[in-house]
Amino acid sequence: MSSATDDWRVHAAALADQLTEQRVITDPAWRDVVASVPRHMFVPEFYSDDEPSGLRSTGNPRWLPVVYSDDTLVTQRKEHPDQPGFEWSTSSSTRPSLMLRMLHILDVRAGMSVLEIGTGTGYNAALLCERLGSEHVTTVDIDPELIDAACVRLSDAGYRPTVAACDGLRGYPARAPYDRVIATVAVEQVPHAWVEQTRPGGLILADVRPRGMTWAGALARLTVAPDGTASGPLVSCTWGFMSARPDAVRPGIPDVVPIDATSVHRRKSEIGSEALRRPGLSLLTWQRLPGINAFPGPDATRITTPDGSWADVTRATPAKVEYGGPVDIWGQVEQAHAWWTEHASPDVEAFGLTVGPTAQRLWHLKPDGHSWVGPGHP
Ligand SMILES: C[S@@+](CC[C@H](N)C(=O)[O-])C[C@H]1O[C@@H](n2cnc3c(N)ncnc32)[C@H](O)[C@@H]1O
Repeated sequence: MSSATDDWRVHAAALADQLTEQRVITDPAWRDVVASVPRHMFVPEFYSDDEPSGLRSTGNPRWLPVVYSDDTLVTQRKEHPDQPGFEWSTSSSTRPSLMLRMLHILDVRAGMSVLEIGTGTGYNAALLCERLGSEHVTTVDIDPELIDAACVRLSDAGYRPTVAACDGLRGYPARAPYDRVIATVAVEQVPHAWVEQTRPGGLILADVRPRGMTWAGALARLTVAPDGTASGPLVSCTWGFMSARPDAVRPGIPDVVPIDATSVHRRKSEIGSEALRRPGLSLLTWQRLPGINAFPGPDATRITTPDGSWADVTRATPAKVEYGGPVDIWGQVEQAHAWWTEHASPDVEAFGLTVGPTAQRLWHLKPDGHSWVGPGHP
């Protein structure tokens, strides 16, 4: 008797062909990898609002086609312990087009060792194992439950990478040095541990993104230098990964910041809240206002910073700005906007990042001290 998953190879080949036609896959070796790895073994169940139970699982006729579609499939949700009653997505199998785009940028070759941060379902680790051989792949996740499940699935599918439950922000020194580090979880700061654990000349590919304004990030493709720094360009990626979690029980969401509402100031601005949606400018805004949280509403967006400063800004210009707290933070956005327009409104790909032992710096066009942007610059 045939089972519902017997024709998975047809679906996997169709996905591989679709990504090739879309020019996401340009290396035929990756086409063969996607056609060979059984994604359904890694995603036996995912969240779906279309199902009465909220989950779509093996056995449901609508499960297999979606498993082999180019969709992100949420596989775990958790409540924040301090905010009962509301669940956040804490793990997923990322949409294959983003994974394959990243795997191409990662530029792996035979014999290279790779560390993946964010095992999740194990599917991306399986893609790496299929391409490089399991002995070259290490993958870590902060959540032991996910690691246990991924280990079983990887082994059932014939892959045996090194798998560990730990905070990936510390890397995984036991198997260092690596030729490549790929983070499938977003970080605000690229940990220097990843630089230390990568060979000089090796690459780190990480999603850098503020937890409180998740559309403002990009992928950083960093080459590790012998002096212990890593530097390289940003690559556009509007919708990236969920933010790194501090531990296995808490989702990677921003901290709630109490705002200082003791006094309210009002003024007009030539810059409306839509400015925060321009990728290059939102990146600059984040650099000027580390820890920014943005809450878009129907008429106005509220932004806050960890010092208790806040501003409510309408979309249309001239915008109405209400603000309070120690700093007029919309003024920082206006200054970033002035710099951005003077420099021909650069997109994120005009910027790059340098990560050192104690800090990371964003630069414009070239990684020298004159091109740094962010607090104090320009
Ligand atoms: C988008 S999922 C990764 C998808 C995965 N690569 C796959 O193929 O299914 C992000 C994963 O990062 C993990 N994660 C979050 N914070 C982490 C941290 N600090 N260290 C390691 N893993 C973390 C989450 O538990 C989650 O499983």
